[in-house]
Amino acid sequence: MCGILGYVGHKEAEPILVEGLRRLEYRGYDSAGLVTLTGSKLHLRKRAGRIADLAAYLKERPAPGCHGISHTRWATHGPATDSNAHPHLSADGEVAVVHNGVIENYAALKRQLQEEGVTFRSDTDTEVIAQLIARHRDGDLVEAVRKALALLKGTYGLAVISRRAPDLIVGARLGSPLVLGIGEEEHFLASDPAALIGHTEKVVYLHDRELCVLTPADWRVLDADSMRVEACVHQLDWDPGDADKGAFEHHMLKEIYEQPEALENAMRGRLSDADATAHFGGLNLDPQQLRRAERLILTGCGTSYHAALVGEYLIEEFARLPVEVEYASEFRYRNPPIDRNTIVIAITQSGETADTLAALRESKRKGHPTLALCNVVGSTIAREADGGVYLRAGPEVGVASTKAFSSQVAVLTMLALYLGRMRHLSSLQGAQMIRELRGIPEAVRQALDCHDAVRAIARRYAGARNFLYLGRQYLFPVALEGALKLKEISYAHAEGYPAAEMKHGPIALVDEQTPSVFLIPRGPIFDKVMSNLEEIKARGGPVIAVASEGDGETAGQVLDRADDVIFVPDVPEYLQPLAAAVPLQLLAYHIALLRDCDVDKPRNLAKSVTVE
Ligand code: G6P
Repeated sequence: MCGILGYVGHKEAEPILVEGLRRLEYRGYDSAGLVTLTGSKLHLRKRAGRIADLAAYLKERPAPGCHGISHTRWATHGPATDSNAHPHLSADGEVAVVHNGVIENYAALKRQLQEEGVTFRSDTDTEVIAQLIARHRDGDLVEAVRKALALLKGTYGLAVISRRAPDLIVGARLGSPLVLGIGEEEHFLASDPAALIGHTEKVVYLHDRELCVLTPADWRVLDADSMRVEACVHQLDWDPGDADKGAFEHHMLKEIYEQPEALENAMRGRLSDADATAHFGGLNLDPQQLRRAERLILTGCGTSYHAALVGEYLIEEFARLPVEVEYASEFRYRNPPIDRNTIVIAITQSGETADTLAALRESKRKGHPTLALCNVVGSTIAREADGGVYLRAGPEVGVASTKAFSSQVAVLTMLALYLGRMRHLSSLQGAQMIRELRGIPEAVRQALDCHDAVRAIARRYAGARNFLYLGRQYLFPVALEGALKLKEISYAHAEGYPAAEMKHGPIALVDEQTPSVFLIPRGPIFDKVMSNLEEIKARGGPVIAVASEGDGETAGQVLDRADDVIFVPDVPEYLQPLAAAVPLQLLAYHIALLRDCDVDKPRNLAKSVTVE
């Protein structure tokens, strides 16, 4: 979703801004633009389409100057056109603005301004902000921004420059992230620290209703009354290589391959042999509070929601604690009776998803303790939850989430162990889980060996229009996730179902052209799932099975009945989601490539959905 980068310093701004926007590409966008300043002249360049289109335009008409702001837009008000792309200028050409978020009262404000004779050049809500700032401009840009903001209802992350304020960027935030980057005689303003990689490691995260003022030599953070705020400088610990593709063709493939390491990082220092449990530094809830919990609500969106579903099985089995999983977008507006001892856990890679943030805030408002499982350090959800656990997966750039999913599942497994050890799990059981968890990065590494087999299978099925993904118990959420991955990046229609449920409807879809991806569990329900598989075969449906290596007899049965089989390492049942997710991610990836789709930037999707 939209990205912002601003620069003020001693270097040419244009290349810094374009490169930074490229780092934000993964968030999803449909137009891009920038404005720079030399003397009292603003140089505005913007284009619908990709950053490459903007870069080509800049070759013809470079934007000079060491001071500028830039933006990638994901259309909300008005289609993706050159004129709707940001930055937006005020009608008098004085003020330029880039904006993330949504101004809810823009229509009324626009009408009022038009009645007063102001002309508009775009359909966007953002242009209203530029006009309002220009209206209140009587010398001091910061004051003008503050006065304009007071009139707005909605959310914003803003960067503003003005023709009459050389060497100055003003930023403001309400509900849409902004981070200030501190360099040597240069300063940055970005919606996402990923844009700052390679420039600075010192950052300040802005809070809601704060403004910031940047010049080459100085920076300051102000509250809504323009009082200076004592801001906390954080150190980013991302490696510049982290956000690049390295030797991989796509970010998604790189991130699939990073899973073993991400799992190691998620577990590092968190498993304790001495007391056979897991430890987390940031829960901020005392053990009594956790011990008293009678129910957990796990909430999230998309892939994070699927990880939450795995978490439900894990926590109910190991901690014997009732768990409910809710789509954040539904939970935020429902009014379910929640008893006192319920803890709400928000699960999110980005920490910025608007629906998940709203669900968290609503839970806090009702007085529930809240936790966040989050990847992006310092993100809004990470900061607003009472406590939480970082995933430590490193930046995830591909829009289709992969390593964040496995890290979420690993953290939920450790949480199940921790809560279980407070309740029913013996130290022997705890020690066994720790042993098994420690083996999982290696098992996922081995699961990646299926890559060639999956590529060959993808070739056979890439033309299919519909797919079914079927699994039971721990593998049911993985079936949902496999189907989501395929539809997100290959645009094939895919449905995930509990394997036994398909006879209540989806089986009507089965024919020779509709492959079913079957996740075959080890353990007691193996035979049941094999019967479900037979029901598909009896109707002529091709079956791709994902099964555990191991015991020759069961492997033989699967080989006998399925059309194609992908073997993954044999891990305990509760860890199977981590091994089984790998071939499904690779299958989606290869089918998408064969269908000529843009794997890292699928159409209509955004990495971080910061609007409702
Ligand atoms: C978007 C992304 C999904 C992601 C979901 C939740 O829809 O395209 O890949 O799973 O948001 O994001 P979060 O950052 O909260 O995990």
